[in-house]
Order: sequence, then C-alpha cells, then structure tokens
Amino acid sequence: MMLGSFFDPSPMKWDGQMPESMAVGADHVDWVYYAIYYFSLFFQVVITGLMFYFVWKYKRRKGDKLETPPDLTRIEILWTVLPLFFIVILFHVGFKGYVKNAIAGDNPLEIRVRGKQWLWEFEYPNGMKEIGKLMIPVGRPVKMVMSSDDVIHSFFIPEFRVKKDVVPGMYSNVVFEANKVGSAHVFCTEYCGTSHSGMLADVKVVPVQEFDDYMKAGPSNPNCPDPNAACPADMKAKWGEALFVQNACVTCHSRDGSASPGPTFKGVWGRHEALQSGEAIDVDENYVKESIRKPQAKIVKGFTNAVMPAFTISDRQIDAITEYLKTIK
Ligand code: CUA
Repeated sequence: MMLGSFFDPSPMKWDGQMPESMAVGADHVDWVYYAIYYFSLFFQVVITGLMFYFVWKYKRRKGDKLETPPDLTRIEILWTVLPLFFIVILFHVGFKGYVKNAIAGDNPLEIRVRGKQWLWEFEYPNGMKEIGKLMIPVGRPVKMVMSSDDVIHSFFIPEFRVKKDVVPGMYSNVVFEANKVGSAHVFCTEYCGTSHSGMLADVKVVPVQEFDDYMKAGPSNPNCPDPNAACPADMKAKWGEALFVQNACVTCHSRDGSASPGPTFKGVWGRHEALQSGEAIDVDENYVKESIRKPQAKIVKGFTNAVMPAFTISDRQIDAITEYLKTIK
C-alpha cells in the first residue's frame, strides 16, 4: 500500500520547534505536529493570497451590473469533500501514533506517581520513594501509574512527548521508553493553585546498570555533594530530618514528648523500652532499622498499633534518619 508507507513517518526526522526528543515514538508525534503545521501554513498562505487577489480582481467597477450567482452545488461538494479527505488522513496518522504510544512494551517498569500541591512523588517497584526527582533506565518501557492526593494536576515530560491529567479519585497512565541518556523535565500543566509553576521534577535517563545500582543504594545525601567523601554526622542528620518529614513519620511520632499514635521520639535514642512481648530493648541502630523495615517486629508496650507500613528505604537513608533521631533530645 503506497499510501500506508508514505504516511509511516518513523524514518523521517524533523526538528525546529520541539525540544530534543528522548523517547521512542516522539518522532511520530513530531511528524504529526509538523504535518499539521505545514498543512495549515500552506492553506493559510494560499487562501489569504487568493482572497486578496479576488478583492483586487473582482473589485466593483463603473458600469458593473449585479447578477444572481449561478448554481454552486458542485463546488460546494468539492470544498466539503476535499478537506474531509485531508482530515481523515490527519486523523489516521494521529490516531496511529496515539495507539502506539498508549500501550507499554513488554514487562514495563511500573512507577507510582503521586501529584500533590505542589510536588511530584515517585515510588519505585522496590518501595523507594523520591520527591522531585525521577530516575529512568534507558531502553526499557516504563509505565507511570498516576494519582492525585488533592486537585487535578497534569503530568508532562516534553522530551518524551507525553502528557496526561492526574485526577483525584482515579488512576491514569502514561507509557514511554526513553532512547537517549540525559536530562529531561516534568512539568505540571494544569493550574493547581499558588505554586503550580513550581510543581516541577528533574528526570534523569541513565544506563540500565546505573539505574539498578541506584535502586539498590538509594538516593544520595543532598547535603553531601561528593558521594565518595565522608559525610559529617550533622549533615546526615539534616538529611534524616528531611526524610523524616518526607516519609510522614512526623504524623505518628511526636518530637516534643506529647502523646502521639506511635511512641514519641523525644529522647528516643538509647531509651530503655519495654515491649509488648514482655522483653525489653535499648533503642540502637539495629532496632531503628528493624522498626522501619518491619514495624510489627517489636512493638513498644502500650502501643497496639499495626498501622505503620513497612518502609523499604535504603540503608543510607536509614543511617541518616538514625543520625537525626540521635539529635531529638
Ligand atoms: Cu499541579 Cu499545576
């Protein structure tokens, strides 16, 4: 089919108005965009040009007599059918690209996305969460499973040519496969309140090996820029405090000694704690780590709770939180 192969845009490359394309399928989107753009530009020029020409050519002159125009049925059919033909073709290429970009490839990496005023939170399959930063392995299909905690947001990565509304009370998906290592950006493209314009995230597309390492080691401390240098305790504690808030520990563990759903963390470090089981422990690194990973393992006496979810954050993050707990006196 001549027409079919002519309208398969994959081998063609366009650039100009679009940001760098970094995903499979982005070229198709660009092709459709430019096809519509130049199609419109062409007819804009032709129609406007003819209009001026006719104004000049058929200008009323002295002695002209007004006549009833002849029957124009044929020309009316022509100007209805011809654009319809073009629109059907444009729909065809557009829809083909839409369908291609709507289905994830085999065995996609699923990342949970939560939009809230005014941040993007990403949760990886191993449970690790990060805010404002998204890591993507190159050459692997990715499916974003998105929801909103408050109002309507819209998830947009221009470099991947994907955009989808993120709506409270339902899940929406976007799929893509990055084909280039580098940096991209997440924008919110639905006005969602005062800081809507600040609702951004950085995207890093990295080789698969680097992505796997990152999943194991977790994010690095933003307060210690050199990952190979030793990180002082107070810098660790500072990150720990941020993680404490980010992971919502603060909701159930007070820091001032007041009653809270979980044990207060005022003076928690080294505290001798009686457990429900009748045993007792001293709060140390091992207990903190175990309580984060398996909250039900050793419940403090007087707390019946089984509400706390297991957090699968990295060792490095747990170290930072531990360092922070030491400072709550
Ligand atoms: Cu979220 Cu705009």
